[in-house]
Amino acid sequence: MRKILFGLSIFILLAAWAGAAEAPLGLPKVPVPKDNPQTPEKIQLGEKLFNDERFSTTGKVSCATCHAKDKGFSDALPVSEGIDQLKGTRNAPTVLNAAYFRSQFWDGREPSLEEQSAQPFLNPVEMGLKNHEPILKIVRTDPEYVRMFEKAFGVKARQITMKEVKKAIASFERTLVAGDSPFDRYLYGGDKKAISAAAVRGLEIFRGQGRCVSCHTIEQDHALFTNHLFHNIGVAAQRMPANLDELRAAVKEVKEKGVDVAVLSNPKTESLGRYAVTRELSDMGAFKTSTLRNIDLTAPYMHDGSLKTLEEVVQFYNNGGRLKETDPIPELLDGGIRPLNLTPEQQADLVEFLKALTSPQFVKK
Ligand code: HEC
Ligand code: HEC
Repeated sequence: MRKILFGLSIFILLAAWAGAAEAPLGLPKVPVPKDNPQTPEKIQLGEKLFNDERFSTTGKVSCATCHAKDKGFSDALPVSEGIDQLKGTRNAPTVLNAAYFRSQFWDGREPSLEEQSAQPFLNPVEMGLKNHEPILKIVRTDPEYVRMFEKAFGVKARQITMKEVKKAIASFERTLVAGDSPFDRYLYGGDKKAISAAAVRGLEIFRGQGRCVSCHTIEQDHALFTNHLFHNIGVAAQRMPANLDELRAAVKEVKEKGVDVAVLSNPKTESLGRYAVTRELSDMGAFKTSTLRNIDLTAPYMHDGSLKTLEEVVQFYNNGGRLKETDPIPELLDGGIRPLNLTPEQQADLVEFLKALTSPQFVKK
């Protein structure tokens, strides 16, 4: 009997372990590039790099400054502040579940987490370094880094390059996945009591009259809440270049400084959105569809942090891409953005639904 019990408990332990390696409820498996497989050593190293403030000119800013765990891996500011409290132009998106995105940044200018991670170090309003040399100097001389890079990549101190730094940070970020929210337990776990009646009504509006799901996708067996596409929903409308001269000036700035530096330093250039990357007119003022997972944790909202609460976001959509009905109708709006005619109760239900997307490990107690 004892033997059977022992065997059974080993089996349960193994099953739990295998389960832990799988994606949480409501999320697919994390895509991992062939040339950067996940290993515990790399993940641990990536976490240290992510939190290291020495990779900034002031020694006070790390990735975690703007992507803080206790703030849903964002920073609770309308637009981020880097070295010397310098302000950028954009709201820090959460890094949670960024592992699933097909492109990184609000305008999708980088294709992968690996490529994304090299930018903030050099941006003059983020970490402010002139080049990546100061990072390499630290990781090649700090004995703990030397030991960790050797374990993770089998390289000696002098052989460490940004390639390994980028890979380690990306590997850590691929562990920042969060599903299993009340919504997931309701829809995918079959627990009909997991969300409130108001949130159930909100989900129906999200899929029906609100048409939110046409961009914030929900699939049969998982939901990333993004179609990975870029849309102009009217957020930057008031700042967009008003004439051809202003547009030319903005494009010139992008060409001279590169997208990353140009858009994060000038609100007007910022408003180009995906256009700064593709120069396609259909991408003017278009931004990446955000995931809505853990959205309750990451106010304020939108790429410029211009909407303070989820109530404001819903009001904005209900008015067809503007906060007030008296505001002018934005130009070049995506076809999916029209007045929704939701009652105040329906709007409140939609907010309740959005609040049911918070993963248990982040629920505020
Ligand atoms: C000064 C604040 C700040 C710092 C420091 C910072 N970020 Fe960000 N992060 C932002 C902002 C703002 C954006 C959005 C910028 C944009 O889209 O143009 C962003 C975007 C991202 C994204 C894209 C997510 C998405 O939804 O597309 C990832 C991933 C990311 N940061 C990771 C990092 C890593 C890794 C570091 C450190 C190497 C870092 N960040 C440092 C503010 C910061
Ligand atoms: C046409 C596609 C589209 C539709 C329809 C749509 N969204 Fe969005 N959503 C986006 C895009 C694109 C963004 C980012 C826009 C920006 O910042 O300029 C966004 C941003 C958001 C954000 C803020 C995310 C953040 O991290 O700041 C919330 C919340 C949101 N949408 C909820 C909704 C709800 C609720 C509905 C339905 C009433 C809806 N969306 C309908 C495309 C869409």
